[in-house]
Amino acid sequence: MSTPPGVPGPLYKPFEKLVKINVLGKDFEVPEGNILLRAFQYIAPETIPYGRFCWNEECQYCRVHFDLGPDSPNRVALSCKLMVQDGMRVTEAAQEIRYCLRTLKLNPPEAKAEGSGGN
Ligand code: FES
Repeated sequence: MSTPPGVPGPLYKPFEKLVKINVLGKDFEVPEGNILLRAFQYIAPETIPYGRFCWNEECQYCRVHFDLGPDSPNRVALSCKLMVQDGMRVTEAAQEIRYCLRTLKLNPPEAKAEGSGGN
């Protein structure tokens, strides 16, 4: 059974709508008013909880580069601290995040070794 993550539990702060973000080239809708790491958990509920994240601004494993659209500056932040915003684009993510999001088949800019031919 593939229940889409539409039933937020107590993990997520209350929200009224989903906002659009782009993570390493792929679009997602995630609950507004939540931190980005929680948004990652929303789109990858089976892997993010098993990541080595402290959720507490200490481990640095959740570091991302992001911007808020084409005309905004690229910034670095900890996704366990950063509030998700509509239009946010995650352009780079720490290895631990990439590993946890691997099932989403994102297009990390630096990993183009596979996929030029088949599946
Ligand atoms: S999860 Fe450890 S610093 Fe963000």
